[in-house]
Amino acid sequence: MPVDSFNRRIDYLRLSATDRCNLRCLYCLPEFYARFAPAEELLSHLEIEELAACFAELGVSKIRVTGGEPLVRPAIADLIGRLAKLRGVSEVSLSTNGILLAPLARELAQAGLKRVNISLDTLRPERFRQITRFGKLAAVLEGVEAALKAGLNPVKLNVVVARGMNADEIGEFVELTRSLPLHVRFIELMPMGETGFFSEERRVPLQEMMERAAPLRALGPDERPVGHGPARYYRRPGAQGTVGFISPLSCGFCSACNRVRLTARGVLVPCLDASEGTDLRQALRDKAGRAHLQKLILSVIENKPRRHSMLERAAGLSPNPRFMCQIGG
Ligand code: 5AD
Ligand code: SF4
Repeated sequence: MPVDSFNRRIDYLRLSATDRCNLRCLYCLPEFYARFAPAEELLSHLEIEELAACFAELGVSKIRVTGGEPLVRPAIADLIGRLAKLRGVSEVSLSTNGILLAPLARELAQAGLKRVNISLDTLRPERFRQITRFGKLAAVLEGVEAALKAGLNPVKLNVVVARGMNADEIGEFVELTRSLPLHVRFIELMPMGETGFFSEERRVPLQEMMERAAPLRALGPDERPVGHGPARYYRRPGAQGTVGFISPLSCGFCSACNRVRLTARGVLVPCLDASEGTDLRQALRDKAGRAHLQKLILSVIENKPRRHSMLERAAGLSPNPRFMCQIGG
């Protein structure tokens, strides 16, 4: 398994299947965003399969398919099936906004998808429409239900928390874990992309999120839902599901980082906050062999930064110039 220069083991690839999205969440994309990649710049299924095989051979065994919104990519279940079948890949997961999940959940599970993270920031229909600019909450709730029914496990809900947006709903999301085996994770707002949304006032720090979610009991390693990321997990006494917190700004988030990101255009990026990456698509289209591609991959991993600079960005109000959909969520 590849190890970076700070001794972190990299066994997890986040792979963006498309930078397009069928929503425009306030903190993620401007309403009239138009910088999506033209079709010929996106990696094809075959190209993704070949690159994923390179990673898997190196010992990167877990792949998460992200976006934009991955389910807007045609024949996404075929892509998931190809990834799940690769030698050395032990788990394929998916991050989605859930809008298109209900009709696809069963097919995805049959293709080999193990688990799913669904982004959902509010349980109120009108507020959902405001945050996403035109989304229908009912479609996502149907998606959540379909994911549970299809046997995807765990089903996690990702809630980006912002003051004035949904911070008042933390208790209601925790309540949801009581009767349903859902794993709700509250994510601290990050300064990503020139959306004009991020501010220190809007950001709800970890401590405050936890106070709003109380009472909670911390979970031991064997009680947590399967996952390989930075969340810390808790449970409301008597609840079926769990509650987690992801706080990229409030605490030492980077020391256990285990991942790199492949953008939809085929650029390998070492960090969520990086502005540079290595163009694997070009190398692939120039007919580079597996050994050369793997050398490029290892050199990105070797140059992975120790930590992100989001706190500095937040202080100077200079968000990462890349939008989340360009980096791959
Ligand atoms: N801050 C925090 N999370 C964000 N996401 C997108 N933009 C931001 C941001 N500025 C989240 C999405 C999704 C995940 C892939 O990233 O809501 O849950
Ligand atoms: Fe789309 Fe997710 Fe960004 Fe919302 S947060 S606009 S659903 S990519």
